[in-house]
This record gives sequence, C-alpha cells and structure tokens, in this order.
Amino acid sequence: MRIIRDVAEMQALGQSLRGHEVGFVPTMGYLHRGHTSLMELTRPLCEHLVVSIYVNPLQFAPTDDLARYPRDLIGDATKCEAAGVDFLFIPEGFYPATFRTQVIVSGVTSRWEGAERPGHFAGVSTVVSRLFGVVQPTVGCFGEKDFQQLTVIRSMTRDLALPIRILSGPLVRDDDGLALSSRNVYLTPEQRVRARCLHRALFAVRDAPAHLPAGERLALGVAMVDSDKLDYLAIVDSESLEPLPDGLPVDRSARVIVTARYGNVRLLDNVAIEAAPEASP
Ligand code: PAJ
Repeated sequence: MRIIRDVAEMQALGQSLRGHEVGFVPTMGYLHRGHTSLMELTRPLCEHLVVSIYVNPLQFAPTDDLARYPRDLIGDATKCEAAGVDFLFIPEGFYPATFRTQVIVSGVTSRWEGAERPGHFAGVSTVVSRLFGVVQPTVGCFGEKDFQQLTVIRSMTRDLALPIRILSGPLVRDDDGLALSSRNVYLTPEQRVRARCLHRALFAVRDAPAHLPAGERLALGVAMVDSDKLDYLAIVDSESLEPLPDGLPVDRSARVIVTARYGNVRLLDNVAIEAAPEASP
C-alpha cells in the first residue's frame, strides 16, 4: 500500500489509472468496521482501491468537534492495508489558498442534518467533488449510516454528470446494536448503554403493524428514546427525504432516521422500511 500526501501526486496517479476501474472510499479516519466494510465491498469490483483520510474543516461549524475529532493514522493505515487498499491518500494542504468554490445541493439538504447543521452538506459536497477531481475514481462508495449524505452525493454526482458510479454499503452495528461511529469513543459507559435505545426505537418503528399510520409508529419509537436531546425521529421517503404524512400508513419504500444527543455527542442511526407488497385482490 502506498501512502500519498501530496495532492498533485494523487492527481497524477489518478490520471495514470485512466481506463482502469478505480474504487474510492472517502473517510475522515479513525476507521472502524463500518469503513472497512465499504473497502471490502468495493475491492472486488475494482482494479485499484483508493481510500482517503481527511478531516474536512468545511463541513464542521465553528462550534463543532473539528479540533477534537479522533485521529489514529497508524491504526488506520494498518486497517487499510488489511482491507487490500492500494493507495491511502492523506492530503496535506488540500484546499489551495485561492479556493473559492462551493458545491451546494438543494432540496434533499433542507431538512434533518441540513437543518441541524447549516452549511454542513455544502462542506461535504464540496470536499467530495474536489476529492473526485483529484482521485478520478470510476466508483465511489459511501455508507448508508449517513443516509442523507448518501442521497446528497448521489444527487450531486447525477446533476453534475460525473462519470462515477456511486455504491452504498449497509450500516454496520457494534455487538450491542449501536451504529458504529468514530464518535462513539466519546460516550461514557453509561451514555453508551442508554444509546442502545436508538436502534431499538428504529426497529420498533420498522416492525410496527403495517396498517398503523406513520405518526403512531413514530410515537412508539419516541417513547423508547432515552437521550439528552432527541433532534429528530422521522419516517421519510427514501428518495426525497420528505417526511411521510403522519395520518397515513407507510405505503412506499421509506427510511426511519434518528439523531439524538448524549452530552455533546450526536449519534445518527437509520433503518429501511421496505414497501409493503400490494394487497392481493
Ligand atoms: P466518515 O464519517 O469517516 O465516514 C466515511 C464513510 O464511512 C461514509 O460513507 C460513512 O457513511 C461510512 N460509515 C461510517 N460509519 C458507518 C457504519 N457504521 N456503517 C457503514 N458505513 C459507515 O462521512 C464522512 O466521513 C465524510 O462526510 C466524508 C464523506 C469523508 C466527506 O468528508
């Protein structure tokens, strides 16, 4: 595995791989099985696999946790090597001093994380666009853990006609059911136990009787959440991310999404509700 820190060197390498299948998994490091599952998914589909580690300042608000985002480059490099990564891109000076472009995806960014973290998705789509331009992959892989982010990246790639196939990997959970996240290290043991309610609430909403209106399903879930602050628990259309009407049963492919805070750690989780099969006549 080769480690590349220079942006121009990475771009020249991307150029030299033209005509080959190049898979790319962008990350912010402190890698766990959620990240490596994306590498394992992409590896067999591609001739070359690139992973990036870059804690992108553009997607953090001044009050966010940028400075204390966990880092472990040596451990990360070992995990990448084991997952069959060919090139590990850890850019230094990623944005030139003259950088002045923002990539903004509208619509699907207006609610949920977009509303809770203004500017966050502009930061994500801007960094991912620039990473795509530098690495020049044919396949980009993102986790369903960040379902709204995945939707934003798919929209951006389609709208800008980028010649990149976007793959997604399922959300990976820890043994206790908690969605794996680099931020889980900041939970106290007590918060971590309380946070188990999140996936249980999501599963309860998913597994509620199909005839129940969405609002009643959600009420079941909300009653199960024990957090310091529940930012949202919602059932959304899996394409538009618009909330489904409270008064009607869930009649299409949907996603139950939740974000809750424990102290100053925000945890995100989600689960799919598949469209109910048509009732036979
Ligand atoms: P990061 O949080 O490091 O996540 C990198 C990728 O791993 C994302 O696609 C994310 O959805 C996926 N991932 C994280 N936890 C996962 C889990 N438990 N199961 C499955 N996949 C998981 O997301 C980012 O970084 C950044 O916003 C980035 C896209 C790199 C842009 O800066």
